Amino acid sequence: MKLVLLGAPGAGKGTQATKIAETLNIPHISTGDIFRKNLKEGTPVGLKAKAYIDKGQLVPDEVTNEIVELRLKEDDCKNGYLLDGFPRNIGQAEALEKMDAPDKVINLDVDLKALADRLTGRRVCAKCGESYHISTKKDNVCTRCGGELIQRADDTLETVNKRLTVYEQSTAPLIEYYEKKGKLVHIDGMKSIDGVFAEIEKALR
Ligand code: AP5
Repeated sequence: MKLVLLGAPGAGKGTQATKIAETLNIPHISTGDIFRKNLKEGTPVGLKAKAYIDKGQLVPDEVTNEIVELRLKEDDCKNGYLLDGFPRNIGQAEALEKMDAPDKVINLDVDLKALADRLTGRRVCAKCGESYHISTKKDNVCTRCGGELIQRADDTLETVNKRLTVYEQSTAPLIEYYEKKGKLVHIDGMKSIDGVFAEIEKALR
């Protein structure tokens, strides 16, 4: 199955993607994670992406599209893929149609007010990337691997607000784009993490 997870920053794409990829045995491809890995390794792509990520802006399409195109050619994508955070604008969606069009697109619907709280309260493991929220995680140690929990540089209130504006302007139009193609499934992203996953499982059956 070839799947795209759509949703605003903080909608829960990464959280659900881990579960879906495990269940369907398809690779979870997050462009945000790829950029952050490149940044950690100090590659030219990582350094270029940093300038945009820190400002809450989109990394230019030519950089992002090439990364995804190369990734989709890898062996583990033969039985499908789960894209998280790509496409993020109409240009990227058109590019994906040419690379390897998705079968289904899942849109996580979440109230705007909840998004800012989720993002500014998010803490991620510096070692394995697992995501937590300060309302439920009271210590600073990753339950999965023991790594230290940190705040992402782009999860400050100022940058979160910029990311939400970019979402409204560039990414939200993809909802109509995929609705017109008859590929979009709406999921209520305001439920609990397990509740959202149960809805996704039902939609994929
Ligand atoms: P990226 O890393 O993709 O960030 P994002 O889309 O802004 O999404 P997030 O990872 O912040 O949120 P999420 O929806 O995955 O939510 P999560 O599951 O973590 O991109 C970062 C940057 O990279 C972009 O700004 C851009 O610069 C660049 N970039 C990436 N892709 C690009 C592209 N295609 N083109 C150009 N540039 C690109 O959950 C958030 C929090 O909520 C967590 O704390 C979690 O525990 C909690 N939570 C999750 N689900 C629930 C729930 N159901 N109830 C309560 N809490 C929940």
